[in-house]
Order: sequence, then structure tokens, then C-alpha cells
Amino acid sequence: MKPRPVIAGNWKMNMDPLEAREFFRAFHPEFSPGRHPTLLIFPPFVTLAAALNARPEDPRVELGVQNIFWEESGAFTGEVSAVLARAAGATHTLIGHSERRHVFGEQDEDVARKVGAALKAGLVPVVCVGETLEERRGGRLQEVILRQLDAVLPVLSNDADATFILAYEPVWAIGTGETATPDDASQAHGMLRRRLQERLGDVRAADTPILYGGSVKPDNAAELLRAPEVDGVLVGGASLDPASFLAIARAGMPLT
Ligand code: PGA
Repeated sequence: MKPRPVIAGNWKMNMDPLEAREFFRAFHPEFSPGRHPTLLIFPPFVTLAAALNARPEDPRVELGVQNIFWEESGAFTGEVSAVLARAAGATHTLIGHSERRHVFGEQDEDVARKVGAALKAGLVPVVCVGETLEERRGGRLQEVILRQLDAVLPVLSNDADATFILAYEPVWAIGTGETATPDDASQAHGMLRRRLQERLGDVRAADTPILYGGSVKPDNAAELLRAPEVDGVLVGGASLDPASFLAIARAGMPLT
């Protein structure tokens, strides 16, 4: 039997504090503490405090940030460190999301430094990997996602207690309405899991959730969540609406 899934929502550059409060207000009547998957929501930095205040009081509803900078403090105008994010109440951080890599030019080395900073500050990194359509068509799926994973493995293997989450998000499926099939997801997750086994051992590999992300919607979530090796989903667009986010969560496990 699969462990309890992780259902994560990446709000990207959407949702102001008022909208976050509205989101969770709609959420409450539907919500039965204890009978739901682990829910992880990534609001923008400026909305984190409002989301923390408005979320249901349940340890399995956690909030993270969408990015961090690797330095702890100092003259880095506009950046937010892992230490600051942790102090503001975040427990997790996305790292290496494809928009960070492709819109903002983040490199594998940057991603690795950020993972190190997150662990040091006590944030759980959610490390995102994924190939572009061109790379996939060129038969480079395995090479690309394992290269992205290999970049962070030294940091993770240095710290035997480090908890982390992986997210496989094919770039061609993000925000496009194109979803990987459950078989596509299982295949890529299997490659990632085998690499984790080789480098970190069977126990840590089995304990590390691997989420699928890319156009996850209420109508495709159940089949993706049933696919072998898929331990949860990372949802962008469909996480902005509480009804669709809850429907996806329900696909992971009945809420009532
Ligand atoms: P999407 O985004 O669900 O809107 O495709 C997923 C993500 O970027 O995490």
C-alpha cells in the first residue's frame, strides 16, 4: 500500500493576503482534520503570514516558500534567505522550479547551494527536476533529470538526517494543459528512485516522496496518484481554486 500522499499547491505569483484568507475560508467547511493527505501550500512571500493565520489548524497543512537565496543575511537586495523564511513560519521551500531555471537562469550549482542553505535553516527542500520538450524528443529525458538530481545529491548525502522531497515536473507539461501520462510519470520517477537507491541507500530512497507536477487537475489527479512511484502531486494553476485543490486532495485520499 502506498504511504499517505503529499498534495502540494504552488501559487506562483498569484494570491494576495486577502485572497489567501478567502481560499482558506472556502476550505474550512470541507476539511476534516486527520483524514486527508499531507497538504503543502507555497504562497508568495508577501502572503505567507496571512496564509499561516488563515490555514486550518492541523499539522498536516504546511506552508512553504517558492524560492530562497543561499546566503543567510546581508546586502542582497530583494532576496529572502532560508533563515528568514523559516523564521516567518515556512517549513518547506521549492528549489529549482522550472520557471526559476528557465525564466531566471538558475543553474544546477545554484540549486545545490540553495538545497544546502534550506537544510541548514531547517527547511525541507522540494527539489524540482524536469526535461524540456526538445530534450525529451531528443531522447535525453534520463540524462537531464539525473544530471539535475546528481547536482544536489552530494549535499543530501552529506547529511544523513536530511529530509527532502523531489518533484518531477516535465517543462512541457507545466501550465500547458499537456499532462504526462501515468506511465510517463512512473518511468521518470523510477529513474529518480533508482538513483536515490544507488546514492543514498534503499531506506532513504523509499522514504523520499517523489511528486509529479505539470497540468495536474481534478480529472487526472486520481490516475496519476495511483501510478507506481508517484507519491503525490505538485499543482500550479488548479491549486488557486480551493474547490479544485480539495478535489485533487480528495483524489489522494477521501477527506471524510
Ligand atoms: P501547472 O504548474 O499545474 O499550472 O502546470 C505546475 C507547477 O509549475 O508546479
